[in-house]
Amino acid sequence: MNTVNQKTILIAAPGSGIGNSITSQLIKDNYKVVGIGQENSKKYFEDLISKGSQVKFFECDCTIEEEVENTFKEMKKSIPKIDGMIHLIGGSFYSKAITELKFDEYRKVISVNLDSAFLLGRETLRWMQETDGGNIVLFGSTTGFKPSNKKLPYGVAKAGIHAMTWFFAQEGSKDGVITNTISPGYVMTERHAQDITKKAEKTEKTFEEVLQGINSKNPLKQSLHPNDIYPLVKLLLETQHIQGQIIRVDSGQILG
Ligand SMILES: NC(=O)c1ccc[n+]([C@@H]2O[C@H](COP(=O)([O-])OP(=O)(O)OC[C@H]3O[C@@H](n4cnc5c(N)ncnc54)[C@H](OP(=O)(O)O)[C@@H]3O)[C@@H](O)[C@H]2O)c1
Repeated sequence: MNTVNQKTILIAAPGSGIGNSITSQLIKDNYKVVGIGQENSKKYFEDLISKGSQVKFFECDCTIEEEVENTFKEMKKSIPKIDGMIHLIGGSFYSKAITELKFDEYRKVISVNLDSAFLLGRETLRWMQETDGGNIVLFGSTTGFKPSNKKLPYGVAKAGIHAMTWFFAQEGSKDGVITNTISPGYVMTERHAQDITKKAEKTEKTFEEVLQGINSKNPLKQSLHPNDIYPLVKLLLETQHIQGQIIRVDSGQILG
């Protein structure tokens, strides 16, 4: 019989990519999982619940302050405490030269990646301060350390997440709130696999040839699978000693 892990973990954007992989591994490890997010995440959690999983889900546009505040109020009615929060909401959305980039495109990327991290982070910090602390895990990116072509808003947002980590760690320490960030390199999510398929069709190459081109830029000649991220997530959800760190999981990508 599975023993229930008493820890409750709130995961933002569990419905696709890395979030999907982390959620299924949290459930296997018997954490109590609470999801927050939009369309894909809602569908994924409805499916989990229909299969008998004890997860909970709260639909929320996490870029809107009022929605986030109301959603946390709602959560607190049925959940006494969250021990961990994982923020995965993000995306680069555009690949444009700075001179071509519209201001509302720039704002959208900052809003989805950075505003949502601030809003969820702030509500989580407030809650954890009232309930003996907990662990926050944010997601940055190698693009926050080193510019990738035509991704200015994403790089700025992810560098912002890296800086946010230090401030949350500094302010949270007195109440036992630990904050760290994982900054992945290229992770072979379904979305990236679809991009490769499209590129292969366009350039009359095979999927493997396009992938090899991507991997050749990496010192270890590999890209990551979403499941490769979870061991570090688990460590950062449980640690009492790692505080305010930004940890690259990129097979050395930025050294390449
Ligand atoms: N994949 C990579 O190679 C890679 C590399 C470096 C860093 N990262 C970072 O790692 C994290 C996860 O990446 P991923 O590729 O797994 O992401 P993904 O599959 O693109 O998922 C991101 C999710 O963000 C959610 N979202 C967008 N706008 C939102 C909003 N306003 N409110 C609530 N949720 C919203 C959506 O969730 P719903 O499903 O709920 O609609 C979307 O599916 C991101 O922060 C990403 O920047 C990824």
